Amino acid sequence: MDFEIRPWKKSDAKSLQKNANNRSVAANLTDLFPHPYTLKHARDFIKKVNKLKPPTILAIDIHGEAVGAIGITPQIDVHRMNAEIGYWLAEPFWGKGITTEAVKRMSAYAFDNFPVNRLFAKCFGYNKPSHRVLEKAGFEVEAHFKNTLIKNGEIHDEIIYALWKENFFHNLKKS
Ligand SMILES: CC(C)(COP(=O)(O)OP(=O)(O)OC[C@H]1O[C@@H](n2cnc3c(N)ncnc32)[C@H](O)[C@@H]1OP(=O)(O)O)[C@@H](O)C(=O)NCCC(=O)NCCS
Repeated sequence: MDFEIRPWKKSDAKSLQKNANNRSVAANLTDLFPHPYTLKHARDFIKKVNKLKPPTILAIDIHGEAVGAIGITPQIDVHRMNAEIGYWLAEPFWGKGITTEAVKRMSAYAFDNFPVNRLFAKCFGYNKPSHRVLEKAGFEVEAHFKNTLIKNGEIHDEIIYALWKENFFHNLKKS
């Protein structure tokens, strides 16, 4: 399915609110991602991410509608050669390979435009679809932390996936 990754527009607030307001999406993200997700949350989010220059948190757009988000957070200080990658997609579009492709495109954008040589993702232990996305995009498991996070009142494992710049470009050449 055709999609585009692009900066957020003010006019995305309505579709963002609609697509983000989903318990199954929120259940796999940190508590900073609100549930229920209101129009005010959407407007505040767009305002905040549009201050980031160059843009690091982008919209996943299908036929002009913002149906998800993908972004990197470059780290600071001694970790400044690393960036965390995160993403979510509206539930009606799951299982079509969109996020895998979006992670690949975002990885290329990150390695090409930021002084970063390692991307990492922190996944909840039970989030099998996200593990699969990262594996398909070339990430490898670096650590499995037992019972380190609490979500919706339950304790879970956390898995750290990482992708190194040299491996990303090496794999790109092979494909
Ligand atoms: C995780 C998420 C982004 C995946 O998006 P997506 O576009 O559906 O992902 P893709 O279609 O590229 O790939 C999903 C893979 O997971 C697999 N999958 C789905 N449910 C699964 C399950 N219960 N167990 C194992 N694999 C599963 C799919 O079959 C597919 O793998 P395949 O191509 O080998 O068949 C989406 O489910 C989502 O937004 N979840 C909520 C937010 C979230 O988890 N964000 C990531 C936080 S780390």
